[in-house]
Amino acid sequence: MLSKTVRNIVPSGTVAINARVFDLKASGIDIINLSVGEPDFNTPEHAKEGAARAMAENKTRYDKVPGLIELRTAICKKLKEENGLDYIPDQIVVSNGAKQSITNTCFALLNSGDEVLIPAPYWVSYPEIVKIAGGVPVFVDTKRENDFKLTAAEIEEYSTEKTKMVILCNPSNPLGTVHTREELKAIADVCHKKGIYILSDEVYERICFADEFVSMAAVSPEAKDITIVLNGLSKSIPMTGWRIGYTASTVEFAKAMTAFQGHITSHPSIISQWAGVAALEHREEYTNMMVAAYKERMEAAVKYLHEELPEVPCIEPKGAFYLFLDISCVKDKLLATADTFGNMPLSGSDSYSKEFVMKLLDEKHVAMVPGSAFGKEGFVRVAYAASKETVLEGLARLGQLVKEILAQ
Ligand SMILES: Cc1ncc(COP(=O)(O)O)c(C=O)c1O
Repeated sequence: MLSKTVRNIVPSGTVAINARVFDLKASGIDIINLSVGEPDFNTPEHAKEGAARAMAENKTRYDKVPGLIELRTAICKKLKEENGLDYIPDQIVVSNGAKQSITNTCFALLNSGDEVLIPAPYWVSYPEIVKIAGGVPVFVDTKRENDFKLTAAEIEEYSTEKTKMVILCNPSNPLGTVHTREELKAIADVCHKKGIYILSDEVYERICFADEFVSMAAVSPEAKDITIVLNGLSKSIPMTGWRIGYTASTVEFAKAMTAFQGHITSHPSIISQWAGVAALEHREEYTNMMVAAYKERMEAAVKYLHEELPEVPCIEPKGAFYLFLDISCVKDKLLATADTFGNMPLSGSDSYSKEFVMKLLDEKHVAMVPGSAFGKEGFVRVAYAASKETVLEGLARLGQLVKEILAQ
């Protein structure tokens, strides 16, 4: 009865974990939840005031499909000031979150069977959105020696005449890595040479501890021509529930995405868009406070891991709010022992990172996400969008579990 398209969708790898967190909480157990990719800060007051003003002034009607001209103008100003990029409002399309912007991009660009390079580990929705749009995800097996960052050489290696686009998440969810200007330039050059478009997901750009954050579109005029810059207000300004994402691209692309979006959702809530205008106007102070808090937590967590838990190395985080921990030290023990629920030994093809995460939840009451959910086995992702004390307690319990497993 159901379409092939929906039957082909893989449910999010976090569903089983979230369901278990819910059950444990319902039975009165206090869970340290480090699984959620959402800032633990509240929406800034000035954004809420912007929304309230819009309602009081009855600014609540349909408006332009690609977004309020005031919001698109504010986005152009932000792109100029922070990224050195020149865009006009006709190049901006505002959507219901960055997720919808990815969907717009895929529908605007992909024909059935077109291939999209997705470096693994990847953010969970990329492959599914590509498939929904009729594309074929091709996973790039990134290398440990590059901190699993996509390289120009890998694009050469994995691309075929069917490759239409590459999706780059920078700063990366789940890795927390940030590409340098040189690395981006090399990727852009090879994509330009091969006629491959780049969807550059920069939703975590403001949460960056590297010396600089460089937008893919800023590395060269050629890069700007082939790049769809993706950003939004969910992560850099904590406004996840307001659902504001956007793309900056060519006028031609923006028109195509607008035509598509016009039939699907028209535009995001006008109230949210006015909140977005106010949020962008006053973003600086609030973002700085937030980034300082993330940095402090990240440094404390990394220090703890280095000093107390050398068995569990982590990729050096340079941005976003995630740690990607290597738990391969428990692989052999977990594959040899019983599965948490079924009491069956795991086979080699089962996910031992999922097994580990379920044990961590049931026995230590800490929620994290297995690397397998992001297409990389042998890792767990920790979201440090929680207080420093909570993050350190979560890591200490993870450490206890690792030691218990290794002692078995
Ligand atoms: C890398 C990445 N891109 C896009 C999104 C979607 O963000 P939005 O809330 O704007 O849809 C997320 C959300 O978790 C994300 O982690």
